[in-house]
Amino acid sequence: MTGQTTAARGGRTFLKIAVAAQTLSIFFQAATAGMLLSSSLGADLHHLGSRVMWGSTALYVLAAILAWRPGGGTPRPILHATGFLVLASAQVALGIAGLSSLHVPLGVLMFGLSTLTLGHMLSTARRGRSAIRSGMPQRSAT
Ligand code: HEM
Repeated sequence: MTGQTTAARGGRTFLKIAVAAQTLSIFFQAATAGMLLSSSLGADLHHLGSRVMWGSTALYVLAAILAWRPGGGTPRPILHATGFLVLASAQVALGIAGLSSLHVPLGVLMFGLSTLTLGHMLSTARRGRSAIRSGMPQRSAT
């Protein structure tokens, strides 16, 4: 029982780390996009960052599946993570095609959604900890 609780907590921590890595890598992409317009280093960094960003989103999918395994939580994060993976793939395709008029706004949208997801996860975890301290029954955290 305690082992299961520890595994579920570990799964949720991995999920938070994956979403934080995804959010940071999208921010890195926005920062290198500015450099990309003026230097070849910026282009190289944006190119590398696109692989890191896609990888961190794939990690988010894996973390969501591990956190969900029977008894471990809600399957909703799997849906969210898969949606992000679709958006990240579209973002790579739009970037390579040079369709900046779609690529830039989609990048901004992804950063906003990823930040909201991270904020929601952190506040749910904080509420869960407060509920444990005050002895109140908890809802399952995302
Ligand atoms: C706010 C976020 C972002 C901004 C403002 C931005 C901006 C840009 C710009 C201006 C270009 C050059 C397009 C051209 O050559 O016509 C570009 C290329 C590209 N972007 Fe982004 N981008 C962002 C996020 C992302 C993300 C999240 C990814 C990957 C998941 C990505 C992947 C690419 C790729 C693959 C290219 C093609 C060139 C290369 O391989 O480096 N970008 N981006």
